[in-house]
Order: sequence, then C-alpha cells, then structure tokens
Amino acid sequence: MTDAVHTRRVFSGSQPTGNLTLGNYLGALKRYVEMQDQDFEDTIYCVVDMHAITLWQDPADLRRATQDVAAAYLAAGLDPKKSIIFNQSQVSAHANLAWVFNCVARLGWMNRMTQFKDKAGKNAENASLGLYAYPALMAADILTYHATHVPVGDDQKQHLELTRDIAQKFNHDFGVDFFPITEPVIDGPATRVMSLRDGSKKMSKSDPSDMSRINLTDDADTIAKKIKKAKTDPEPLPSEVKGLEGRPEARGLVDIYAGLAGITADDVLQAHGGSQFGPFKQALAEVAVSALAPITARMSEYLGDRAEIDRILGDGADRAAEIAEPILQKTYDIVGFVRSR
Ligand code: TYM
Repeated sequence: MTDAVHTRRVFSGSQPTGNLTLGNYLGALKRYVEMQDQDFEDTIYCVVDMHAITLWQDPADLRRATQDVAAAYLAAGLDPKKSIIFNQSQVSAHANLAWVFNCVARLGWMNRMTQFKDKAGKNAENASLGLYAYPALMAADILTYHATHVPVGDDQKQHLELTRDIAQKFNHDFGVDFFPITEPVIDGPATRVMSLRDGSKKMSKSDPSDMSRINLTDDADTIAKKIKKAKTDPEPLPSEVKGLEGRPEARGLVDIYAGLAGITADDVLQAHGGSQFGPFKQALAEVAVSALAPITARMSEYLGDRAEIDRILGDGADRAAEIAEPILQKTYDIVGFVRSR
C-alpha cells in the first residue's frame, strides 16, 4: 500500500454559543485569516451549530449566534471568495460520517476526553449523548474534507489527537490509506489566552464573570476598563520571559499583548521590562482597542444585513458539500454500504 498524498487543506470551526472572545480571536480567527493567504488548496471555516446543541440552546439565540459568528469571521478578514464559510448543519456529510466514526472510536478513548468531564460536570448522568459523542463529530468535520491542517487553540489538542486516532484506526481496520493524519496547528504566543480575573483559567465565553474576558463586541471604554481591572501582582514586569514563572496573571497579559501586536513575549518584555502594571495596562489597552475596534465596527456592518450573511453561508455550504460528499461516498464504499440508487 502506498501512502496517499493528500491535498493541503485547512478546516476549522467555532461554536455559535454566546459572544466570541479575545481568546477565540487570537487562538483561532486571526490564524484562520493568516492561513487563508498561505499555500493551501482550500481553507474551510465552519460555524459548528450541531456541536452547539450538545448543550441546550434557545432556537432564536442559536440562529442569531450562528450569524454573529459568521459576521465575526468576515469582520476578522475571512474573504468568502478565498475561503469557504458555512454552518455545519447544512452539509449532511458531517453527521453521516460522524455515525461511521461513532462505530470506530472506542468507549475508552471517549472516557478520557477532559472537555466532556469539564462540561458534563458533577451530573454526568444527565449530560446529553451528543456531548459525549462530540469529539467523533469533530473528527468527521475535519476528515470529511480530508483536511490536513487544523488551526485551533490549545484546549482542542486532545480532540485533535482523537481525530488522528480515529483516522488511523479506520485506515487500519479497513486496510486502506484513506483518511489523512491531520496536523494540529497550535502555535503563536496566544494559543491559550487566560482569564483576566484568574491566570490559571482560560478566557471563556461561559465564565460567569464578564470582567474575565474581552468580547469581540466590547467597545473601547469597556475594553480599557476590563484591562485596567485585570488581576495582576505587585511586582514590575521582568525583562525576560523566565521572570514570568509563577506569575500567571502577568504572563497572561504579556501573551495577550504579544498576540495582538503580532510579536513574541520576549519582544514585549524588551520594550516593557521594568514597567509597573499601570502604564503597561494602558499600553495594552491601546493595542487591544486599535486591533479590535475595526473588527467590531465591521462586524456590526455585516450584522446590519443578516440576509446577506445567510446568502454567504448558503454559498459556502454548496461549495463545502462538493468536497465532502464524494469523500463520504467513498467512505461508504470502503465500509461496505450498498449504493442502492
Ligand atoms: P470553540 O467554539 O470553543 O472555540 C473556537 C476556537 O477558539 C479557540 N479558543 C481559544 N484559543 C486561545 N485561548 C482561549 N482562551 C480560547 N478559547 C477558545 C478554540 O481552541 C477553538 O479553536 N470543538 C471546537 C469547535 C470545533 C472544531 C471542529 C474545531 C468543532 N469541530 C473541527 C476545529 C476543527 C470548539 O468547541 O471550539
């Protein structure tokens, strides 16, 4: 058996549950945009509405949030002429391939998924079956496009390892070299943007405190206020990254600065080492506002015409299905499903 050569193709997705945060922007969206202009055959970016319903979503909120995430993609710089932008539920290959993968993934693998444990909490008996199967759907999202590169934040690492395990086991069990072994693309200074209130937790749209995060819809004053109130320690900033050890809040703010300015943490400390947090936070707020204000403004422009967003999503779904459907059909042939029509 020869190693199949796979087209270089990017796939990634974000859930339409609440506001996107600076964590989503730096860990994912900003990097989606960078990859759009790199040497890939296709860049495919999905709004994963089927993942969202693994936890209860109000239907009207889900509809709006799906359009909001699409608007954030566009506002961040994704170009529907260059990239495929669509919502997951509109391309049925995702759910169909997920079923096949439910039969490939092992219970032992699923039981190790830390995100399920976090999200199900203490009352796991009452979690949906979908929440448990979530990572198999995620593997299907990626592999129904034979995607080779997946830009994500650090919190998705375990799911991407599972995707590789599923691809490997499928290929092995059926004696084929069909699914690629996907490369997670987790790099840059901001793969794990931390909460502004607790440097040991990641910034998250589900944190009960709005002060813990910067939302892509926050205005300049709110951004500045949240940064000003961010938790810190009494020491001035060190001049080298090593000096940030044991100072998670300071590390978190330096990483945010680096991510926003497109430089390394070392560069930030070269410029701000020795500085107290007062002036550093002011400088950080300026960088944050100048990076985010144009995105927020473009996002509200897009949201002024939701019908246009739906049109872009529909066009994306058609183009996505053109790639996904033949891969699903080939999978069915490999599995042994009779094509009856
Ligand atoms: P989601 O919707 O939670 O987050 C979307 C993307 O944002 C990244 N992210 C962060 N990055 C850095 N710091 C943070 N604080 C932070 N918070 C979120 C996430 O890592 C992610 O890249 N399961 C996925 C969605 C998904 C998907 C896929 C991703 C479904 N199918 C296929 C890639 C490929 C999720 O819940 O992401």
